[in-house]
Amino acid sequence: MPESITITDNRNGETYEIPIVNGGVSAIEWSKILPGIWFVDPAFMSTAAAESAITYLDGTAGILRYRGYPIEQLAEQSTYLEVAYLLLNGELPSENQFASWREDVTMHTFIHENVRKRFLDGFHYDAHPMGMLVSAVAALSTFYLDAKDIFDPTSRQKQITRLIAKMPTLAAAAHRFSVGMPFVYPDNSLDFPSNFLSMMWKVAEPTYHADPVLSRALDILFILHADHEQNCSTTAMRVVGSSHADPYSACAAACAALYGPRHGGANEAVIRMLGEIGSMDEVPAFVEAVKAGHGRLQGFGHRVYKSYDPRAKIIKRTADEVFSITGKNPLLDIALKLEEIALNDEYFISRRLYPNVDFYSGLIYQAMGFPLEMFPVLFAIPRTAGWLAHWQEMLDQDSKIARPRQLFIGADARDYVPMAGRGASS
Ligand code: ACO
Repeated sequence: MPESITITDNRNGETYEIPIVNGGVSAIEWSKILPGIWFVDPAFMSTAAAESAITYLDGTAGILRYRGYPIEQLAEQSTYLEVAYLLLNGELPSENQFASWREDVTMHTFIHENVRKRFLDGFHYDAHPMGMLVSAVAALSTFYLDAKDIFDPTSRQKQITRLIAKMPTLAAAAHRFSVGMPFVYPDNSLDFPSNFLSMMWKVAEPTYHADPVLSRALDILFILHADHEQNCSTTAMRVVGSSHADPYSACAAACAALYGPRHGGANEAVIRMLGEIGSMDEVPAFVEAVKAGHGRLQGFGHRVYKSYDPRAKIIKRTADEVFSITGKNPLLDIALKLEEIALNDEYFISRRLYPNVDFYSGLIYQAMGFPLEMFPVLFAIPRTAGWLAHWQEMLDQDSKIARPRQLFIGADARDYVPMAGRGASS
């Protein structure tokens, strides 16, 4: 049986055969045969915008793999820094490769004093840390002029290392500023997650020793968030990167995409929703209201997953470990009740709406003491690895500038009317 599709143009009866390659039909082949007839797919619901070897996702079976490795194994046995290496380089590092990667990242954790003192200090006292992060990442491009040399392998690797290393520093700096606390310099004797926790929480102690359970839990959350193939922010990174902008500018665009409540802001919305519900008794009425069209069940549903998000399963386990240290988040019982009711309700079953990664991640972050505003920032830190892996892959594929078509539905050609001739309302 040939792996192809035959199309008949009913205007003239001609038929065309288009091959199916890797589960896709090339729109380029289509446009050669039928020029000027466009696919209409505004939110890329049925369009593969890239060929990628980074992350495999089967939303029906609930499978997620980075470079072939199941997310469950990586969450259990790996670290975020190792996963970042894997995403960026395609293979797990050898001992030497990892030692050198860890050293490089550690040596790039500091940010230029002007970024902190002049740039970040210029924000309004109550600035949202994610807004600060978006701007600070973009500002970095002005500090590293070699960032424009995106096809120079040495320069490219340097920017990648800088971005992975500096994101936690910028993130913590944005938080400290927004709560009026002094900036904490990176402590290069600490591992990646512990250093971030030190920059977040250190007060006057010479060294901040994060609880190892919390540090590991954060690292697991970083692993789970490191990549998710062609999601909204990664697409933003690729689209901006396709114009050959420097990686800081492209990364700032990706951060901006992550800022929205439909993407990186969803776990914040979950906490707000659970707080609004207030008690377990109110859960059934809340679910009924959602079914009647009053808002959405935040942390439920996913464009790709039509079964339980495998990351949500891992997070649920991590939550228990975190709560054993921090005490249980009082909102957990409401969340569990909500999940139980929704998973047994025809509305959610028929639409295949299951908890996604955000349903439980916010509860963990909140129990660890992170303010709600920091949730998207916590997402941006690890997703930087995924953004950069896709950016690099796209450049290596010599891809064209992203430039979709449109179907024009506006006015036909008409003559300009001088203002005096337009009447009261034109
Ligand atoms: N609660 C209630 N109903 C929902 C929900 C929800 N969370 N999500 C989807 N639906 C319903 C829609 O109303 C629609 O019903 P209808 O067919 O009767 O009109 C149907 O399910 C399909 O919904 P769409 O909006 O078409 O699905 P889409 O794939 O476009 O949206 C999205 C995916 C944005 C994630 C959506 O499920 C949602 O808004 N969820 C809540 C926000 C959230 O948790 N976002 C995090 C995503 S994961 C991430 O970014 C890391």
